[in-house]
Parts: sequence; structure tokens; C-alpha cells
Amino acid sequence: MNLILMGAPGAGKGTQAEVISAREGIPAISTGQILRNAIKTGTQLGLSAKSYIDAGALVPDETVIGIVKEYLESDDCKNGFILDGFPRSIAQAKALKELGVKIDAVLTIEVSDERIVKRMSGRRVCECGASYHTEFLPPVKEGICDKCGKALYIRNDDKPETVLSRLTTYHKTTEPLIEFYRNEGILVEVEGQEKVEDTTELVKKALKEAVK
Ligand code: AP5
Repeated sequence: MNLILMGAPGAGKGTQAEVISAREGIPAISTGQILRNAIKTGTQLGLSAKSYIDAGALVPDETVIGIVKEYLESDDCKNGFILDGFPRSIAQAKALKELGVKIDAVLTIEVSDERIVKRMSGRRVCECGASYHTEFLPPVKEGICDKCGKALYIRNDDKPETVLSRLTTYHKTTEPLIEFYRNEGILVEVEGQEKVEDTTELVKKALKEAVK
């Protein structure tokens, strides 16, 4: 299955990507996580991406297109993949099409801006990529990652003012992709629920219908 996950910041893309990846045995490629890792290790990519991410803006198209191209050409993706957070602009979607990769479904998770703001304030993440929520998806031991045992932290771009900028960027530049993929006949829409497991169930059902 070659899948794209779309939705506003905090809609639950990363959470669902993790579930689908484990179930289907295919890798989830999160451009956000790749960029955050590059910032952490201080690479040239990280240095150039940091100011955009901290401002809640998008990193330039050519940078992320290059990253994704490299991943999709690797052996890891030969049995399928989940793109989490890419494409995020019409230019990125067109570039993906030009790579000649067949996409089976584009799943968009719809959540209102009000609920997004509430979710972001409770998100805690781990450097291994795992994501939790103090109320909706707490780790077994407070502040510690269930998967690797490291300390959880608050993402730099989860500050309330940055979340609002990210939502504005989403509505202006990324949301038009919904129409783009609806016209391609591969859009699958799911209403994000209050509980993670309820969204997981809806996503599972919707994908079963869409990718037969
Ligand atoms: P990225 O890391 O992709 O951030 P994002 O799209 O803003 O999405 P998030 O990771 O914040 O949220 P999510 O939808 O994965 O939600 P999650 O599952 O964590 O990108 C960061 C930045 O990198 C961008 O701003 C941009 O600058 C740059 N970038 C990345 N890709 C780019 C691209 N293609 N082009 C240009 N720039 C790019 O869930 C959120 C919280 O809610 C968690 O705490 C979770 O536990 C909780 N939760 C999840 N589901 C539920 C539920 N159903 N009910 C209750 N709580 C839930």
C-alpha cells in the first residue's frame, strides 16, 4: 500500500501512521521528524530548516522534495510506504506525480482548529519518534517513553503562537490538496475522534474500503 496521510498540524497523522505502519509492515516517512532529527544533529539541512519550522512556516519545496525522493527510491519502500506530512503544497504534489510513484489512497483526518489547539498543548514526544498526550494518550510512566525509556519533551513548535501560524499555513497552502486529490479520485476522508482508538478504527475501515 502506498499511502499519503494528510490533515492539519496535530490532526493525528503521526499517531495513525505508527499504527498503520505496524499493522501493514511498511515504513512511515515523516518529513517533520526527518527535519527535526536534522536540526538535532546540526546538519546543513537542519540549519536551513530550523527558522522555517520555528516560525510555523513550510520548509522550501525543493528541500523536502529532495528528501522524499531519496526515501522513496530506497529498498525500504519497495513493498509500500506511508507519507506523513508530504506533500504539503500543490508544487510538492506535482513533484510526487512526476516521480511516477503510484499512490493508492490519500487519507485526510479532519479535526477542528479549536480541538487542534487543545491537543497540541498536551502533546509530549520522544526523540525515537513516539508521540503521547497527557490526557488522550498518556505513557505508562509519566514523562517517560513506553518504547525506549527516554524522557519525553514538548516540541519547540507546539508553543501556542506557533501552532496558530502552522494552522494558518495549513489552511492556505496544504488544504487545497484535498480538492487536488479528490479530483484524482483517491481521497479518503475521516473525521478525527476524541479518542485515538476510535480514529484508528475509522481509519482502518476507510482504508479497507479504499484499497481493495
Ligand atoms: P510535522 O512534524 O509534519 O508537523 P505537523 O503536520 O504540524 O503535524 P504534527 O506532527 O504536529 O501532528 P500530527 O498530525 O502528526 O499529530 P499527532 O499524531 O502527533 O511538521 C513540522 C514542521 O516541519 C512543519 O511545520 C514544517 O515547517 C516542516 N515540514 C514538514 N513537512 C514538510 C513539507 N512536506 N513541506 C514543507 N515543510 C515541511 O497528534 C497530535 C497530538 O494529539 C498527540 O499528542 C496525540 O497523542 C494526540 N492525538 C492524536 N490523535 C488523537 C485523537 N484521536 N484524540 C485525541 N488525541 C489525539
